[in-house]
Amino acid sequence: MKQIFSGIFESNGKIFTKNLVPGKKVYGEALVVENGLEYREWVPWRSKLCAGIKNSLKNIPLKEGGNVLYLGSAEGTTPSHVSDIIGENGLLFGVDIAEKVMRKFVELCELRKNMLPILADAGKPETYAEELEETKIELLYQDISQKNQAEIFNKNAELFLKKGKFGIIVIKAKSISQSEKPEKIFAEEKKELEKQFNVLQQVNLAPFEKHHCIFLCEKK
Ligand SMILES: C[S@@+](CC[C@H](N)C(=O)[O-])C[C@H]1O[C@@H](n2cnc3c(N)ncnc32)[C@H](O)[C@@H]1O
Repeated sequence: MKQIFSGIFESNGKIFTKNLVPGKKVYGEALVVENGLEYREWVPWRSKLCAGIKNSLKNIPLKEGGNVLYLGSAEGTTPSHVSDIIGENGLLFGVDIAEKVMRKFVELCELRKNMLPILADAGKPETYAEELEETKIELLYQDISQKNQAEIFNKNAELFLKKGKFGIIVIKAKSISQSEKPEKIFAEEKKELEKQFNVLQQVNLAPFEKHHCIFLCEKK
């Protein structure tokens, strides 16, 4: 295993994180033991953050003990790898609007004590501001299919992210328009992000995800 970013490893072209809950898989991923440590394979076809890593994201602003606000946590596939990286001293707040996926996420949070579920609309961050209280967020991550993806991200950044902290957002072009060219949509969303962020990198997620890109940003 070769460490490529803090808490993120590569072996034979595959990406891994150290399993916070040894023996437990989250979504059917492979478990590999090396030198007495158990790693979970991080599958880029199942996780857009991993697809971004495979497609050369230059910085993953996550580390042991970090606090993350994750918008669109769904059943917890990608959040579980973030939970591995931040470890037991970190905290991930997982926000999702859908009760059905949230039920699965709540079960996962019972196993992974560094994740907290929040059933809410990410477009209304003031409704969960109290739950974050004084927690300093190091990374705001968003993966939700809505028409106003960048606007939702900016609203959350305004409330929860300090200058110099990082944001990563996945943009799904087809949620914004079925007819416009994805490249045009990505450019418009980038402009919206630049109201709050310096955009450090834009990475297309093909072949893992069609018509998606991921932006790595730093709060202005
Ligand atoms: C593509 S899935 C996220 C997958 C997850 N990020 C992962 O990699 O494991 C998108 C999620 O966004 C949620 N979502 C959509 N609109 C939302 C909103 N306004 N607020 C919060 N969650 C929302 C959906 O319920 C869905 O679970």
